[in-house]
Amino acid sequence: SEVEKGAYPYYMLKEIDEQPGVMRSLIEHYVSDDGTIVIDQSLLDSMKQADRLYIVAAGTSYHAGLVGKELFERLTQTPTEVHVASEFGYNPPLLSKKPFFIFLTQSGETADSRQVLSQINEWGYESLTITNVENSTLSREATFTLLLYAGPEIAVASTKAYTAQIALEAILAKKFGEIKQVAIAKSFDVAHELTMVANGMQELVDEKGQYEQIAANALATTRNAFYIGRAIDYDVAQEAALKLKEVSYVQTEGFASGELKHGTIALIEEGTPVIAIITEEKTAKHTRSNTQEVLARGANVINIASRYLSEDGDQIILPDVHPLLTPLLSIVPCQLLAYYTSLQRGYDVDKPRNLAKSVTVE
Ligand code: G6P
Repeated sequence: SEVEKGAYPYYMLKEIDEQPGVMRSLIEHYVSDDGTIVIDQSLLDSMKQADRLYIVAAGTSYHAGLVGKELFERLTQTPTEVHVASEFGYNPPLLSKKPFFIFLTQSGETADSRQVLSQINEWGYESLTITNVENSTLSREATFTLLLYAGPEIAVASTKAYTAQIALEAILAKKFGEIKQVAIAKSFDVAHELTMVANGMQELVDEKGQYEQIAANALATTRNAFYIGRAIDYDVAQEAALKLKEVSYVQTEGFASGELKHGTIALIEEGTPVIAIITEEKTAKHTRSNTQEVLARGANVINIASRYLSEDGDQIILPDVHPLLTPLLSIVPCQLLAYYTSLQRGYDVDKPRNLAKSVTVE
C-alpha cells in the first residue's frame, strides 16, 4: 500500500494513534479562527427544511450513527432515526413529511448504502454523505458531501473513521442547532470541546501498556465477552463489541446493561469478562448496579469510567470531556483491547478472516 506503516507493526495501531490528529484536522477544516463553523449554506438550508433525520449506514459507521442520533436530537431538537443500510429496503421506515438523509460511510462504496441512496434519489429526497473518500460513489450520488479528512484507513477494523464521523456529526449538529436556535447548541463550543477530546485521546494512547496487560489478563483466552452500558455508553458498547469480535474472534456482545438480567445474564460464568462503560452521571449508578449483579455470578468485571465518576477499583479511567463527546474517548481503550487481544491470540489484526475493508456486494 502507498500509505506506510512507518515504525508501527500494524496499521490498526497507527490509525488508533492518529485519532487525536484527526480531531485537530476536523477542527482546522470546519472551524475558522473566529470560531465560526464553515459548512455549505445550501446544505444547511436543506437540513433546515427537515422534520426528521434518517441516518443510514453499515458496520462501524452504523455505530457512529447511533451516537449521531444523540448529538442531532440533543443539539438540534430534530427527531433522528438510524438505519442499517441492508435492512432499509426490506423494512423501510415510514417517512416523515420532510425527511433528510445522512449516509455515513468511510469508503463511500458500501453496496447496501448505495442501494438506499439510489432509492431515495428516485423518491426525490435530498441527502448528505459523510465520508472519508472524496469522489466516492456515495459522495457523487448524494446531494451534499462532508469529508472526514482522516487520511486513508487501511486496517480492516475501522477506528479513526468512527471517531472522525462522530466528531463531524458533532460539528454539523452544533451548526444546525445554532441555526435552529437551540440553547444547548449555542453554548456548545465544539472546537474547544474537540480540542479537549484530542488531548484526552492523546493521554489514552500514550498509556497503551495497561491495555495490553488487561487484554492479557481478561481476554487472551476467553471464549466470550460482554460490553455493557446505558444510553450513549450502550452505543459505544456495541462498537466496542464489534471491534473485539472482528479482530480477535471472541464472541462478544454489546448489551444495554439494564437488559442483561432479562435473559443474557444466564451466559455469565466464572471469569466471563464484562466490560462496563460508565461516562454519564445519569446512568453511572445504574450501570454499576448491573456490574454488581454479574460480579455476584462470577464475572470478571472491568470498568471504563470517566474520571469524575470513577471509583476505587475501576481499571480504566477516561479524561473528562463534554458529556456528549464521551464516546470519542471511551472507544479508544476498547480499540486497544481489541488490538492487543488479536495479537495475543496470534492473528493478523489488520486482515481479519472473512472480512473486507469495503463490501461492494449486497
Ligand atoms: C465493512 C468494513 C467495516 C465498515 C463497513 C461499512 O464491513 O469491514 O469496517 O464499518 O464495511 O463501511 P463504510 O465504508 O460504508 O463505512
